[in-house]
Formats: sequence, structure tokens, C-alpha cells
Amino acid sequence: MGSTDSADGHDVAPEAWSGVHRGPLRAGEWVRLTDSKGRRHNICLEPGKRFFSNRGHFDHDELIGREEGFTVASSAGGEYLVFRPLLSEFVVSMPRGAAVVYPKDAAQIVAMADIFPGAHVVEAGVGSGALTCSLLRAVGPHGRVSSYERREEFADVARQNVDQFFSAPDGSSHPAWHLTIGDLAEELPHLAEPVDRVILDMLAPWDCLDAAAGALRPGGIVCAYVATTTQLSRFVETTRAHGGFTEPAVWESLVRDWHVEGLAVRPGHKMIGHTAFLVTARRMAPGERPPLKKRRPAPGAYGPDYTGPRPPDLPPQVLEEEFDS
Ligand SMILES: C[S@@+](CC[C@H](N)C(=O)[O-])C[C@H]1O[C@@H](n2cnc3c(N)ncnc32)[C@H](O)[C@@H]1O
Repeated sequence: MGSTDSADGHDVAPEAWSGVHRGPLRAGEWVRLTDSKGRRHNICLEPGKRFFSNRGHFDHDELIGREEGFTVASSAGGEYLVFRPLLSEFVVSMPRGAAVVYPKDAAQIVAMADIFPGAHVVEAGVGSGALTCSLLRAVGPHGRVSSYERREEFADVARQNVDQFFSAPDGSSHPAWHLTIGDLAEELPHLAEPVDRVILDMLAPWDCLDAAAGALRPGGIVCAYVATTTQLSRFVETTRAHGGFTEPAVWESLVRDWHVEGLAVRPGHKMIGHTAFLVTARRMAPGERPPLKKRRPAPGAYGPDYTGPRPPDLPPQVLEEEFDS
């Protein structure tokens, strides 16, 4: 990995592949500068190089060798907070080929899809590699993340981002990471061993459900991240109609910052109102089916106006029902 001086007892062991460094800032490391208005700049420390802004400049050499967590002043009176970027900060500022999974959702995926050290996780598409970083962190160097991306130019961006985050030495990557260019539905059947989790972040995850079902071991989890209600409905109904998964769990997470200052304690005025919905379902053992639902679907849910996939064994009268208005 990038830093070789872990023997000094300060840095995190390179073999942990955490993407985190401790100890004095070193040449070649990325740091995040935050000015008094909260504007951020990410810079790669280079001896002899100068950082310029509308508040003058300072030399990278003033940062190299210091412990992170200090304020540096520029020649025209600007002040910048200096820290190494956290994973949650890195993924929202790194170059993007495609939209990224936001940290609040990556955290939900890691927790609710139960990603564990040593797991074999399949993900598609890899996009810009944001979720890949969280998955690799969670499975660790002895797990495996098999990422599939059908657009080579996005895979290139992802490779650069993931390698930068984990400070991979030139020509290598995180040892748990296997990146394949291709369509998941076509490539996944070639995977020899069963996998623990399949995470789908793409426009049409229902097209990959059969492949995911074929790859998942019994008890494994499929998890889809979809931006719209129409995608959500189609993925959930396709999963029900498949029959080899448990009833899908569906949710979204909303995060609201708070302003806390003396007596002025209130929710922040702005928030990200929507990112995407999450769906998880567990793979049944071969030939096994989940118990039939005892509750009847809501009136009209699968009536004549509904054109999507239908759960197996719907009573005939349900197909004729209209919505109650
Ligand atoms: C929203 S992006 C994924 C973002 C990524 N999860 C991240 O956090 O950076 C969706 C990606 O899925 C890819 N994709 C769509 N369908 C696919 C498929 N069937 N197999 C592989 N990749 C696919 C697209 O090319 C696109 O790059």
C-alpha cells in the first residue's frame, strides 16, 4: 500500500486494507481542506507544491510531517482546517462516472444486507465505485467483492477511485476485489461458488434477479437500490413472482441534520429529500417456497389495471377486483 512506514507504530497496518492512515501526514497522501465558509478542497500532498485560492496560498510542505487536525493560514489571511478525508467524505467528492450510493444508504446496505468480514458479495453496477469502497471495508481482505459493470469507462473511473481510497500500490488493487466488465445477468452464471450477498444498483435490477437467485446460497440476501417507485414496484413483484425468496422488505432512510446553538435548537432548513429505496429478500433453499400469505392483497392491488408480475397463487377474484375509491 502507499505508506510503508507502518512499523513506526502509528499507521494502520497495510494488510488491514482499511483505507485509513494514522500518524504524520506524508507526501502522496490526500487531505481535505475546509475553509471558514465550509468550502472543501481535496489535495494530494507534494513536496515543493503550492496550494492557491482566492485567499492567497500556502506550501504543501507546511502540512507534510504534521499530525492531521490543525488549521493552516494562507498568505492572504484564509484559514483552512486540515484532515484526511473519511470514507463518507471521499465518496461524495471523488470523480464520478455514474451517480453514487450516498453514505447514508451505503451504511444501510452494510447493516441491513448484513455484510460481514469474510463474506463473498456480488455487486452490480460498480458505477463510480462508492458502494464498492464500503463493501470492501466490510468484507475485509479475507472476503471477496465481485463487482460487475457493463460500461468500461465507468469501470475505469471506479478502479481509480477504489485504488485511491485504499492507497493501492501501482498496478494492484484491494486483494478482495474482482472487477469484471460485462452484464451481470450474463456473467454471474459463470461464477463457480455460491455467494452470500448480491447487491443490485442499476436501472433494471429485475433483469438480474434470476442470475442472483442462481448465485446466492440458501439464506443469502439480495438487496436492490432503486431510485423510483416504478422500479421499486417492478423489482418487488418480480421477487415475489420468482417464488424462491422471502417476502421482500422495503424501506427508505431520511437523514435530517439539526442546528444546535444555544436556545436555537431546530432541524436544519435543508435536507436531501430522496436518494433511493432499498429492498432486501432472503434466498430460500433449493425447491423451498415461503409460506403463502394469509392476508389478502389490498382491493384492486392486482386488479385489471395492474400489468406487472403477479405473485403466484392469487385467488381468481383478486384479479377482478377494482380499487375502492
Ligand atoms: C447508479 S450506477 C452504480 C453506482 C455505484 N453503486 C456507486 O456507488 O458508485 C449504475 C451502474 O450500473 C451499470 N449497469 C446497469 N445494468 C447493469 C448490468 N446488468 N450489469 C452490469 N452493470 C450494469 C451502469 O452502467 C451504471 O454504471
